[in-house]
Amino acid sequence: MKFDLSEEHLAVRDAARDFAQNVLKPGVIERDEAQRFPVEEMKQLGELGFLGMMVDPKYGGSGMDTLSYALAIEEISKVDASASVCLSVNNSLVCWGLEKYGTEEQKQKYLIPLAKGEKIGAFCLSEPEAGSDATSQRTTAIDMGDHYLMNGTKNWITNGSTASVYLVIAQTNVEAGHKGINAFIIERGMDGFIVGAKENKLGIRGSDTHTLLFNDVKVPKENRIGEDGFGFTFAMKVLSGGRIGIASQALGIAGGAYELALAYSKERKAFGKEINQHQAIAFKLADMATDIEAAKMLVYRSAIDKDMGRNYDQSGAMAKLYASRIAMKHTVEAVQIHGGYGFVKEYHVERLMRDAKITQIYEGTSEIQQIVISRNILKD
Ligand code: CAA
Repeated sequence: MKFDLSEEHLAVRDAARDFAQNVLKPGVIERDEAQRFPVEEMKQLGELGFLGMMVDPKYGGSGMDTLSYALAIEEISKVDASASVCLSVNNSLVCWGLEKYGTEEQKQKYLIPLAKGEKIGAFCLSEPEAGSDATSQRTTAIDMGDHYLMNGTKNWITNGSTASVYLVIAQTNVEAGHKGINAFIIERGMDGFIVGAKENKLGIRGSDTHTLLFNDVKVPKENRIGEDGFGFTFAMKVLSGGRIGIASQALGIAGGAYELALAYSKERKAFGKEINQHQAIAFKLADMATDIEAAKMLVYRSAIDKDMGRNYDQSGAMAKLYASRIAMKHTVEAVQIHGGYGFVKEYHVERLMRDAKITQIYEGTSEIQQIVISRNILKD
């Protein structure tokens, strides 16, 4: 087994780290407080090629592998998980889904501007009564002959108001259950498509999470992705890769909290010595470093599985399950190490603690990852 990153991977990681530390960090507390999306910062990330990292250059992307993408998401999440979820959704749900399953016409029209960062995409699956139970879609898209007519509501949609291209999962044939589901490309501005209320969230407050409403939206036939009835498989395939992105995000949040706690432990003195000279703190740091290293192995392994053309449903689910668990655990510990300072915003760790929680919820809760993993290991 080879554990070293290549020169190219290190260069991507360092570029993402520089951007996170120099461009994202200065305004991150204010954006969190004001629930403000990083508009300008996202534009710059697009220009640097971070919005279509894995897309073929012929479609406007950077042509990088999944490991590069994971490293970039990790570094950006150390500082700003609101920015990284936007990147993650655009890269691994929207761009990847379109490149893998879209028609040439769809790629020319939608993928190119998304990969270049000229447009931002959103992935719309969750509904008031269909989050984990993804087959229970209530949004319908009825075949009217020359178009589909879409009606329904989508909830908790990342990039809800910033996006201009939306991949929407809808039921086209209720009797057929999950085999009667399709995925459609919806454009902002289509009649009857309304961006609804913004959520006031615990964490990732700089990302814009909205309800979306579809009232008799006429969807052109050519906007369906794949064969009729492919929508549920499409969603599952796209989410499998998306989970590698969220696992990388969780890893980054844990790593960011660890780096801050380590630095603080060297500055802060108590009982006559640096606090890391007390085993109570040193042992916490040892556990953090160990768990982060273990999470790295799982996350990078799932990315490499995808790059090698191997199945990554299980390794991605394991990476997300474990990385999100340690992100939650160790961001709490980072606050504890900071004591009273950890509880105030200037020290960043309280935000990382709030941001960590969503990694156990979106793109499949921890329990969904356990379903995916247990079904895989029990299937034979
Ligand atoms: N790849 C391909 N096909 C798959 C698949 C995969 N990874 N997983 C399931 N399928 C197929 C199955 O083979 C089956 O097809 P057949 O009937 O033809 O055999 C079909 O899909 C139905 O599968 P299941 O019977 O296993 O379905 P289920 O109802 O038991 O659900 C589940 C499976 C894994 C729990 C799935 O519903 C799931 O992943 N749920 C979570 C959805 C999710 O992640 N929601 C988050 C919203 S998106 C989001 O958060 C984005 C954001 O903005 C950040």
